[in-house]
Amino acid sequence: MRLNPFRLERYFARHEFTAAHLLCASDCESLSLGSLLAMEPGAAEQFSSLWLGYTESPGHPGLRQAIAALYEKISPDQVLVHAGAEEAIFNFMHVALAPGDHVVVQAPCYQSLGEVARGIGAEVTDWAGDPRNGWEPDLEALGAALTPRTRVVVVNFPHNPTGFLPSARFVRDLAALSRRHGFIVFADEVYRGLELNPAERLPAFTDLDARAVSLGVMSKTYGLAGLRIGWIATRNAGVLRGMAAFKDYTTICNSAPSEFLATLALRQREAIVARNLAIIRANLQRLDAFFDARREWFAWQRPRAGSIAFPELRKGSAARFCADLVRKVGVLLLPGSLYGPGYNGFRIGFGRRDLPLALEKFEAYLDSVG
Ligand SMILES: Cc1ncc(COP(=O)(O)O)c(C=O)c1O
Repeated sequence: MRLNPFRLERYFARHEFTAAHLLCASDCESLSLGSLLAMEPGAAEQFSSLWLGYTESPGHPGLRQAIAALYEKISPDQVLVHAGAEEAIFNFMHVALAPGDHVVVQAPCYQSLGEVARGIGAEVTDWAGDPRNGWEPDLEALGAALTPRTRVVVVNFPHNPTGFLPSARFVRDLAALSRRHGFIVFADEVYRGLELNPAERLPAFTDLDARAVSLGVMSKTYGLAGLRIGWIATRNAGVLRGMAAFKDYTTICNSAPSEFLATLALRQREAIVARNLAIIRANLQRLDAFFDARREWFAWQRPRAGSIAFPELRKGSAARFCADLVRKVGVLLLPGSLYGPGYNGFRIGFGRRDLPLALEKFEAYLDSVG
């Protein structure tokens, strides 16, 4: 298998721990170990007596139970825990695809959602969102792209990087198309729970469709990326069996401390998500004002969910703009070109507490370049 470099991760490898202000992070503000343990009486003592042997390969039963509670129709044995969402993507693609198969991937996308399939030797077709229509991709165009070899359609709702969230009708139509055609929907739902209007939260795909696979993680909505705990939830017994066996060759089982902490965080999820949504709402107000005052520079579409958006740059090259910004004032944005050609904008993240300070530096930069 040959994998092309992961452009976004290579960019982060260069800048993430040196830039003064990460204004493009996709995760929410994290927590310290101490403040997570302090959320439940007795948790710190339990954590220090945790046994550090091998853990159960599918994930600790208590963790799988806490994850299953996020879904309507999923039982704990229909959950498989992984090292982040990234391992789950890698393993799913290996189990679901063979060389010569066809995959359709919503675009732009988090690169591994298409790249792993490409590395396996599958043919990958982009299913592009339309920026003039809030980044919604066209279901008729998807229907036209399908072939008898199409095994998987990959979607990501709420969407990285645009914050697009479809209607419930859209996802039901997609599920119906999947049943008619026979492809599996792989639904990356790592930003689920960060809907600005809770009434717009979509049903998880695994609850809508018995063959679909839903992907979740502790990193984004819960801000706990350092735990490296992700999962798939599915009623598709073949995929579940295949992924459980494949995991024997990747991580075998998960980190015991991380499983303990993820279970605790999911028990406390309402408080954690409420705090993250409060940060997001306050930051979005600032971004609305910032972009409103600078329409000659940027085209801003307020996202409906998630912790990132994808404004367009109206003057010059976004790659050069982002390079100059980080060099001169230490503010890191993610140029749209990392998502593929033709995206002359940047990803901006608003799940972190230091956004006001980063935005001040960004403003000073714009004033200095006129
Ligand atoms: C849409 C999407 N899927 C998957 C991932 C991978 O998540 P993790 O790094 O927690 O494995 C990310 C991370 O940025 C993402 O944005």
